[in-house]
Amino acid sequence: MLFRTVTIDDVPALAALMSRAFDARYGEGWNGSQLLGTLAMPGTRSELALIDAAPAGFTLTRNTGEDCELLLIAVDPDRGGQGIGTELLRRSTEFAKHSGIRRMFLEVRSGNTGALRLYERRGFVCVGQRKDYYVGENHLRFDAITMALSF
Ligand SMILES: CC(C)(COP(=O)(O)OP(=O)(O)OC[C@H]1O[C@@H](n2cnc3c(N)ncnc32)[C@H](O)[C@@H]1OP(=O)(O)O)[C@@H](O)C(=O)NCCC(=O)NCCS
Repeated sequence: MLFRTVTIDDVPALAALMSRAFDARYGEGWNGSQLLGTLAMPGTRSELALIDAAPAGFTLTRNTGEDCELLLIAVDPDRGGQGIGTELLRRSTEFAKHSGIRRMFLEVRSGNTGALRLYERRGFVCVGQRKDYYVGENHLRFDAITMALSF
């Protein structure tokens, strides 16, 4: 597996990956324009994992002073359960730590057991809840859990 920084040329492939990785019912995934707009913002960092030159997963983070937010992590469902998410998250948190960031935050849907398990195993703890944070299909709303990891 190789890792490199995401470029704007990767956006269509990453939007396609997200549309397969995220269950559309829950409104957690982003589209290509949301990703493109955020990549242009200062403090963002996005890393891509490649297997045989094809995108296998990626992360998107944004630094805000001493804190950092994990905005997105997604793995190609055909490559799920192989440790790619764990490695992407490890790299993100290590990079933040070595950049002088004190805490990383994230939001995760309360029923997203796979992601919750991934974060808990990395040491993230629940620090809050946002009611009706995600807007899914048919305008159904889902709570988010805010998690944090202190370095
Ligand atoms: C969450 C996600 C990034 C995990 O990536 P992955 O490469 O499959 O994860 P790993 O192989 O490193 O596994 C990490 C842990 O999560 C668990 N896990 C992964 N997907 C799971 C699922 N769907 N259900 C339950 N557990 C799951 C694994 O079992 C593993 O825990 P374990 O070793 O204790 O069994 C991936 O499932 C994904 O892209 N999901 C959709 C997008 C998403 O929800 N992102 C998070 C919110 S932004």
